Amino acid sequence: MNILLTGGTGYIGSHTAVLLADAGHTVVLFDNFCNSNKTVSARINQITGHDIPCVEGDVRDTKLLVKTLHEFQIDAVIHFAGLKAVGESVREPLKYFDNNVAGSISLLEAMQKASVKTIVFSSSATVYGKPQYLPLDEAHPLNPINPYGRTKLQVEEILQDLVKSDPSWRVALLRYFNPVGAHDSGLIGEDPNGIPNNLMPYVMQVASGKLPHLNIFGNDYDTKDGTGERDYIHVMDLAQGHLAALNYLQDHLGCEIFNLGTGIPVSVLELVGTYEKVIGKKIPSQIASRREGDLAVCYADTSKANHTLNWYALKDVHDMCTSGIRWQTFRSSLEGSRE
Ligand code: NAD
Ligand code: UFG
Repeated sequence: MNILLTGGTGYIGSHTAVLLADAGHTVVLFDNFCNSNKTVSARINQITGHDIPCVEGDVRDTKLLVKTLHEFQIDAVIHFAGLKAVGESVREPLKYFDNNVAGSISLLEAMQKASVKTIVFSSSATVYGKPQYLPLDEAHPLNPINPYGRTKLQVEEILQDLVKSDPSWRVALLRYFNPVGAHDSGLIGEDPNGIPNNLMPYVMQVASGKLPHLNIFGNDYDTKDGTGERDYIHVMDLAQGHLAALNYLQDHLGCEIFNLGTGIPVSVLELVGTYEKVIGKKIPSQIASRREGDLAVCYADTSKANHTLNWYALKDVHDMCTSGIRWQTFRSSLEGSRE
């Protein structure tokens, strides 16, 4: 298949590009580089041994998308392109609705014009909001608590309405839990700008000495050790979930929703403890107050993806840490060579 990856040089897009190319698909990347580096595409080529085209453009540029869909005879799109910082979405909601919602509408219009009607959309577990029960299955009520989450829910709803209006569409809405880790080569990984918001990249920067210590946001939750529990999923398992969804859409019309997680809740202390074991040294940390808006526990019921897509997350927290460390080492060498 010829597959267009919007946001294809970002964290999840780049890993999925590698996996799809390795599986024999023809991949085209489309990105405006607002949160990625132009060198990622060369590193994807280095890993795969393929010369993967990378179109520089914004998903709000419908004309360029139509041209790209025709030029590369695209069969299916995976739509990763989007902004994802929760705090920024609270401060600048219009930027988020414009980029994530208007950007998706522009893409869908382009796809309609080019008669490309297969799409996998990057949604998020954040659409569920505060869990009413656990694990979270796809039927759990939806109540996102910030603008970022609402952009994801709105795009899900747009896609569902589109399928109702034209049943020849094939749509998979993938609700990711907490993607972490990196490709085994260590050449690509999560590359946040500035001080990371998320646990794993923060821990990695403390380990490499870039940040002095980790703040553990609360140790008085009703959880196994008092710290927050999440469903961390290795980014290569997540990438495999996209391939499984594309394969499923080959013989299924309509719209289906799938959680992609491991189904296993892991606490902050457990994740940090595994990281410390892998690197053989302590991560300096201190207990800080709870972070506003944080949930105590969030993890997936993955049975629908397991049974319908025949997809299973295979990698554990140890794999997430070792691959992350390999990437952090390479990333530090890149930063060193830039200095
Ligand atoms: P990322 O920021 O690394 O990648 C997103 C990519 O999209 C970047 O390369 C960015 O430059 C590009 N982009 C953004 N707006 C664009 C636009 N208007 N036109 C063209 N390119 C644009 O993020 P990621 O972690 O790889 O996330 C990919 C998708 O998955 C996002 O939609 C995100 O909301 C969703 N998601 C991520 C997580 C997570 O924790 N990483 C969790 C759930 C859902
Ligand atoms: N945490 C710390 N210290 C830090 C960072 C995080 O203790 O410096 C804790 C948090 O309190 C939480 C856990 O680590 O208990 C995980 O936090 P992350 O920020 O890594 O992940 P979240 O689950 O809070 O948020 C992520 C994405 C959101 C998305 C959400 C649900 O960042 O965009 O998953 O999909 F909405």
